Amino acid sequence: MSLEVHRSVAAFRSAANALRHQGKRLGLVPTMGALHAGHLSLVQAARARADEVALTIFVNPMQFGPSEDYGRYPRTLERDIELCREAGVGHVFAPDASDMYPPGERTRVQVSGLTRALCGPHRPGHFEGVTTIVSKLFVVAGACVAVFGRKDYQQLKVIERMTRDLLLPVEIIGLQTLRDRDGLALSSRNAYLSADERSRALGIARGLSAAVFAFQAGERSAGVLRKTALAHLTEVGLRLDYATLADADELVPLSDETRVGERALLAVAGFMGQTRLIDNVVLGDDAAPIASAERSGQTRGER
Ligand code: PAF
Repeated sequence: MSLEVHRSVAAFRSAANALRHQGKRLGLVPTMGALHAGHLSLVQAARARADEVALTIFVNPMQFGPSEDYGRYPRTLERDIELCREAGVGHVFAPDASDMYPPGERTRVQVSGLTRALCGPHRPGHFEGVTTIVSKLFVVAGACVAVFGRKDYQQLKVIERMTRDLLLPVEIIGLQTLRDRDGLALSSRNAYLSADERSRALGIARGLSAAVFAFQAGERSAGVLRKTALAHLTEVGLRLDYATLADADELVPLSDETRVGERALLAVAGFMGQTRLIDNVVLGDDAAPIASAERSGQTRGER
């Protein structure tokens, strides 16, 4: 299959319009590049739901804080394009920042409530950056089905709500987190980890798994479930931003005194060395990351 690379908004918009005129459904996979097997699983999910897939690559400056890793975020465009070609992507949209943020731009898209907890307070401005850029990508792509990973669970919920509230003609699909064989959630930022940090980072998957097993065994105290995970995170020296149980839809944190109902989000974020990692499970929905990684066959060797 041929692959077209579009560097301007006008070129990508006209390619997306042409597809729709041919009666084709577009599948959109928004990324910041540095593609890994997790992104390629999003591509496969998009291919299953659409006639042609467009993958966007844009390291969005607006969603990085001043002390974050915008400057050193991996940029591997040529390799990403090759991976897209092999994966059957029909269109890559890789715009310049000046195209997505024209000089003099003043407009921001903000979702309230869902951005208040979890990563919100730790990354001021981050979600506004995400919703501003994703809404622009949706406006350029037009009607489509868009696929996101559930590793960024809060991002997924915020984008779902934005799309619904702004009446955008986009169907949002949230895909299960892809993990390495040992359970570590795939992330472009894993490339920053030393061998020692990577092996300690597995404490996150162990902590989430321990909480899933406790939940499956009938534990319903939010405090006990949270502390069950926390023990593994502190053991490996994760510098914690948060380990929080929250309502899985509204993302309102549950106090330790809460009795958890049928399902709840357990989300973790913290630094392993200089690298910020996030991961989560929805208790009541998701299998334990480590057991599920071993059982599901959805595993990848280390990259
Ligand atoms: O998840 C990401 O890679 C980014 O946050 C996204 C959705 C592409 C917006 O820049």
